[in-house]
Amino acid sequence: MPGAASASATLEALEHPIVQAPMGGGPGTAALAAAVSGAGGLGFLAAGYQATDAVRADVDAVRATTERPFGVNVFAPPGAAGDPAAIARYAEALAGDAARSDVELGEPRHHDDGWAAKLALLAELRVPVVSTTFGCPSPAAVAELQGAGAEVWVTVTSPEEAATAAAAGADALVVQGVEAGGHRASFDDATPGDYGLLALLQLVRAQVGLPLVASGGLATGRAVAAVLVAGARAAQLGTAFMRTPEAATSGMHRAALSAATPTALTRAFTGRTARGLVNRFLAEHSDEAPPGYPEVHHLTAPLRAAARSRGDADAVNLWAGQAHALGADLPAAELVRDLSRAARAAVAEAVDRLGSGR
Ligand SMILES: Cc1cc2nc3c(=O)[nH]c(=O)nc-3n(C[C@H](O)[C@H](O)[C@H](O)COP(=O)(O)O)c2cc1C
Repeated sequence: MPGAASASATLEALEHPIVQAPMGGGPGTAALAAAVSGAGGLGFLAAGYQATDAVRADVDAVRATTERPFGVNVFAPPGAAGDPAAIARYAEALAGDAARSDVELGEPRHHDDGWAAKLALLAELRVPVVSTTFGCPSPAAVAELQGAGAEVWVTVTSPEEAATAAAAGADALVVQGVEAGGHRASFDDATPGDYGLLALLQLVRAQVGLPLVASGGLATGRAVAAVLVAGARAAQLGTAFMRTPEAATSGMHRAALSAATPTALTRAFTGRTARGLVNRFLAEHSDEAPPGYPEVHHLTAPLRAAARSRGDADAVNLWAGQAHALGADLPAAELVRDLSRAARAAVAEAVDRLGSGR
C-alpha cells in the first residue's frame, strides 16, 4: 500500500473529523457551513446551480461568522450533451405530469454551470478548500487553485477516478459510496458504478496515498468510527445535516426523511444518476428517463417547482442517503460534537472486543 501521507493541513487541523457535505439545490446554506466549521468540523458551501455573485455572498457570510476553514464545492463540466431525440421523447412522457400541474416543461439547456468563472472566483476569494463533483479539474486548474492557497479535494466513486484525481495533483479525495444521497459524483454518468463505501475505501486506499474523506450512508457515530478505522481521515455526511435548523431543507423534505421510505437511484429528475426517496415521480419515470444533464434538470424544473408550491412530496426530488431514517433534529454544532463523541465511544467498544491482541 502506498504511504498514507497527509497532503491536507485542513484535515489534520480539524477538531472533529466531521465534514458537512455540500448540498446544492437548497439544503446547504452559509449558516450551516459556518455552524459546522465553528464547531470544529468542516462546513461546505455548494456553488452548484448558484450564480457567482451568490457564491461570493455565501463565502462572505461564512467568513463573517467564523474564522475557521470551510470548503466550497463546484460541479465539473458535464461532458457531451444528451441525445436531443431521447430528451424530446422523455418530454412527451412527462406531458401528463405537466398538464396535471398546469405548467409548461422547461427548456432543456446544456451548459457547464459556469465552471471556469467559479474556479476563478474561488481562487480570487482564496477559499481554503475547493471540492469538485462530476469530474476532476485539469492538473493546471488544480495547480492554479493551490497557488491561490486552496486545497483541492476531488470526489471519486471508483479506484480509476481516484487514480485520475491523484495524477491531477489533488490534495485529498472524497470517496463517495453508492449509499450516498443526491447525485453520484461519477466522472461519467454513462457508467456511474456501484461501489459500496467500505469496499471503495479499501480499494482506493490500496492504490492512492492521499487522505480520504468517506461519504455515503453515514448517519451515526458508529458509522463515522467504521470509516475512520477503515482508513478515512474524516467522514462526510449530507443527509444527516439536512434536518438541522441551519439547513434550508423544505418542510416536506424534512418530514419525508424521518420515515422509513426506501431510496433508489434515478435519472428521472435531472438526467444524472442520483439517490432519492422513492415517490410516485421516481417510480413512474426512472425507467424511461434518458441520460442528459443538466438538460433534464431544466426540463423538469417547472414540474418540481409546482409540486413544491402545492406541497406534493410525490413529484419532487427528495434526495436522501440510504440511512436517512436515522437522522435527528439537532443544531449542526451539536450534531458534529455528538457524532464525534459517539464515534470515540464506538472505537473504544471495538477495541475492547478485540481483546489483548495476542
Ligand atoms: C440534498 C443533497 C444535495 C447534494 N448536493 C451536492 C452538491 O452540490 N455537491 C456534491 O459534491 N455533493 C452533493 N451531494 C452529495 C453529498 O456530497 C454526499 O456525497 C452525500 O450526501 C453523502 O451521503 P449521505 O447523504 O448518505 O450522507 C448532495 C447530497 C444531498 C443529500
